[in-house]
Amino acid sequence: MHDIIQQLEAKRARARLGGGEKRIAAQHAKGKLTARERIELLLDQGTFEEWDMFVEHRSHDFGMEQNRPPGDGVVTGYGMINGRLVFVFSQDFTVFGGALSEAHAEKICKVMDQAMKVGAPVIGLNDSGGARIQEGVASLGGYAEVFQRNVTASGVVPQISLIMGPCAGGAVYSPAMTDFIFMVKDSSYMFVTGPEVVKTVTHEEVSAEDLGGALTHTTKSGVADLAFENDVDALAMLRRFFNYLPLNNREKAPSRPSDDPPERIDLSLDTLVPDNPNKPYDIKELIWKTVDDGDFFELQPEHAKNIVIGFGRMDSQVVGIVANQPLVLAGCLDIKSSIKAARFVRFCDAFNIPIVTFVDVPGFMPGTAQEYGGIIKHGAKLLFAYGECTVPKITVITRKAYGGAYDVMSSKHLRGDVNFAWPNAEIAVMGAKGAVEIIFREEKNDPAKLAAREAEYKAKFANPFIASARGYVDDVIQPHETRRRICRSLAMLAAKKVDDPWRKHSNIPL
Ligand code: HXC
Repeated sequence: MHDIIQQLEAKRARARLGGGEKRIAAQHAKGKLTARERIELLLDQGTFEEWDMFVEHRSHDFGMEQNRPPGDGVVTGYGMINGRLVFVFSQDFTVFGGALSEAHAEKICKVMDQAMKVGAPVIGLNDSGGARIQEGVASLGGYAEVFQRNVTASGVVPQISLIMGPCAGGAVYSPAMTDFIFMVKDSSYMFVTGPEVVKTVTHEEVSAEDLGGALTHTTKSGVADLAFENDVDALAMLRRFFNYLPLNNREKAPSRPSDDPPERIDLSLDTLVPDNPNKPYDIKELIWKTVDDGDFFELQPEHAKNIVIGFGRMDSQVVGIVANQPLVLAGCLDIKSSIKAARFVRFCDAFNIPIVTFVDVPGFMPGTAQEYGGIIKHGAKLLFAYGECTVPKITVITRKAYGGAYDVMSSKHLRGDVNFAWPNAEIAVMGAKGAVEIIFREEKNDPAKLAAREAEYKAKFANPFIASARGYVDDVIQPHETRRRICRSLAMLAAKKVDDPWRKHSNIPL
């Protein structure tokens, strides 16, 4: 018996070594941690239960039968983050560059299947050269098995991808179907085809970093939600982020007691919005002053900055926040911001997270670039997402709510539960200047007359009272009482339930 136990320990030690000391040193030299070190940092100490440590690939080609490292390039299992269950897979770049074989895929699928059965999130730590070249189609089949599980798990358990090395070719599509993608700066990249193929096909010269590095995907493409400085930073932030998520779609996100009183008022908010309606202000100031302890976890802060999304807590409960940002493009809705916010709204809706929307929107962005790019369809995504959404929805119009964008931004008509406006709010079809230029076109050569018309239009429509007279706004509130009013509304909405007619699924404009 003693011998067998020793053999087991020796086998485990061999498996823990992955691709061997030399490759571990090479991994460290790149500033990257190993697959196991990453799991140690991600999970609560001592909670990792590893599965399939002894799984080997079944390939016999290209001399692979001589080289069967136990674990086959991915470490899988489950553990706890701040005492809450999570399933994890962590690709081991020291074993065949973390390349995905049939057996490697089976290990990932096993933890995904189990996560679905018990209702717990899945976190993937990606660091892989893609399909195991020696295995050919068996590897592609393995990828597709993972893809299918990403789809089946979508909206059932949260799925998060942390890209910590290469992620290229079709392999990018598994993370792409997860709910959130985080990347590590300078050591991770994602692209469908690498720089060499790009050069051959389009004659563009581009580095891997520029093509698909963390900065590219968190600024230009919006594929990734956040970029972190290094592995340690990324894993620590992922642990923090995990606290905002429920374990599955039948549970609520965990509450976190706070000493910040829900009834707290903030008088500085009364002067947040400048007197001049064309002067911008930072909507994040309102968010920080409204959520518990000023703690706001922003997502995609560098992409489509004209809309702000992220998680906070109000009266201890997690809320998703969506806010137009007047500092960027005057807060108007364009293609990128609509897509960014729509996906976030859908995540919140799928996982029982109430949504608080702060509105200051002059309308949709005009222009050929937007029209040719399909703003109609992409703007409709956000409209659709809000209309479909059945979690508690609380809206505060802080200044402008013009045109179609008024409707889109969680208006009463899209089943907004509680809709507030600040006293300076302007809720109308369009801005006064544009409006009078259309309806009084014949007076366009008489600036004095036009100015009088504009003043008349402003006085009549640039306020929240016409909307509130119709009940489109439930109350006009003082800015300083915003937190208190939202917290009370959330408490009132705690047991909200909406039944929609049966359908297989909706057909959101994609
Ligand atoms: C098998 C692989 C591998 C792969 C890397 N390795 N990628 N083994 N299959 N796909 C092995 C290398 O042979 C090497 O083994 C070790 O991993 C480390 O690789 P290096 O090249 O030394 O590392 P580095 O210089 O850091 O470069 C990493 C890399 C490069 C950029 C990922 O290895 C690379 O370009 N690999 C090929 C990528 C690729 O074309 N994959 C297929 C994409 S198509 P030793 O023994 O020397 O340590 C695809 C389709 C998916 O993925 C479709 C899904 C639907």
